Amino acid sequence: MKLIVTKDYEEMSKVAAKEISDFINSKPEAVLGLATGGTPKGLYEELIKLNKQEIVDFSNVTSINLDEYIGLSGEHEQSYRYFMDHNFFNYINIDKSKTFVPNGLADNIDLECIEYDKKIAELGGIDLQLLGIGSNGHIGFNEPAEYLYMGTHQTNLAKDTIEANSRFFKSIDEVPRKAITMGIGGIMKAKKIVLLASGENKAEVVKELVSGKITTEVPASMLQMHRDVVIVIDEAAAKFLSLHSGEYIKSSSGL
Ligand code: PGA
Repeated sequence: MKLIVTKDYEEMSKVAAKEISDFINSKPEAVLGLATGGTPKGLYEELIKLNKQEIVDFSNVTSINLDEYIGLSGEHEQSYRYFMDHNFFNYINIDKSKTFVPNGLADNIDLECIEYDKKIAELGGIDLQLLGIGSNGHIGFNEPAEYLYMGTHQTNLAKDTIEANSRFFKSIDEVPRKAITMGIGGIMKAKKIVLLASGENKAEVVKELVSGKITTEVPASMLQMHRDVVIVIDEAAAKFLSLHSGEYIKSSSGL
């Protein structure tokens, strides 16, 4: 694991944007696994700027998102398709027909999950997977549980997740209870993973992620077994890490 600790959210977003734009420049036809949530918003803003400055080109990139709420259409403001279009895709030169998000309104959700995994395989797998982390340790919507799933599947959202995500809805009752999510296998098969975390409310789970036991009760702890993970977190999220010099890279303002 490569750990980069930045001063604040803004710098975290810039460092992650550089990591991703450098990756695309080395592989212009990259397949990017993308994430939603409050955490990557700043990163997407930075990537939009880099695209406008012609520092990064998305014209040959394909994207495939981690998850989607079941029951929301892509036009619903809280759906993840809507999030991606309105926070990122509408402002960059990506071909929208090469952006994939699970269909939360599919008639047959199990079939949708199978097709989603087929799509990932057809694309040749994910080159770089972007992740946030839930304060309960989830990645995508792989919630803490006795066991985890390899493939894309439908899942019930954990109580913590419904509460955390209710900040985006008018009331907690409106938060969907079910979602489609890529499985742990889909995530772990990505060639490279970039995980972002910001703020003190993520500090405990970041400690578990970096140095805790590997357990399905903290799905993100599985990432300790991946060969190429870059974790970009701000100082607040790094609060409980006992870091000694040389163990991590502290980003300077020059990135
Ligand atoms: P957040 O969500 O970025 O809104 O904190 C992260 C996650 O649940 O994976």
